[in-house]
Amino acid sequence: LRAEMATPPPVDDRETLEAGLAGCRRCPLWEQATQVVPGEGPLDARLMIVGEQPGDREDLEGRPFVGPAGQLFDQVAARAGLDRRAAFLTNAVKHFKFAPRGKRRIHQSPGRAEVQHCRWWLEQERALVRPDLILAMGATALESLTGDRRNLLARRGRIENLADGTPMLVTVHPSYLLRLPPPERAEAEALFEADLRDAARRVA
Ligand code: URA
Repeated sequence: LRAEMATPPPVDDRETLEAGLAGCRRCPLWEQATQVVPGEGPLDARLMIVGEQPGDREDLEGRPFVGPAGQLFDQVAARAGLDRRAAFLTNAVKHFKFAPRGKRRIHQSPGRAEVQHCRWWLEQERALVRPDLILAMGATALESLTGDRRNLLARRGRIENLADGTPMLVTVHPSYLLRLPPPERAEAEALFEADLRDAARRVA
């Protein structure tokens, strides 16, 4: 366990990182998935945004945040003045996890072990990008980055410093907003927008 949790040696280019990701067998999720979904965006990005894991659309396209949660993220980011293309956008877990149900694939949350195994790759991405700020969206991102996924709603909107000193701004995951009933959603979405505006302002 200790060896698996160790900080990986820094990679110095995207090709090596993506080749490693494509061949990853650290956990069984690769078997069912169509492909791995690496982080996307400039390696000199000042902002790194971390979600949970690819969904159905992301798995098919090989890009993060292109499905319903990604579309909501894009809308709110536009209102908040956060330029997605300037950020490095990635996930705590890099393969889609699902349960087949007829022709549909039902999203399943990654487990503790999967988050721990895939942390290796998030560490590699962090070493490569060395962002000035990390925006953690949701409990799985928090778990991967800090080891503690508890109390998301009490922590959101705040800055926490990670072990290496990198500031992390905590917010909710856009999928959470999609699940809320309308009155609560409007309120929660306004808070999410404020967090994205804060993130954009801090790296401006
Ligand atoms: N949700 C995530 O956390 N990441 C994606 O890439 C898509 C949906």
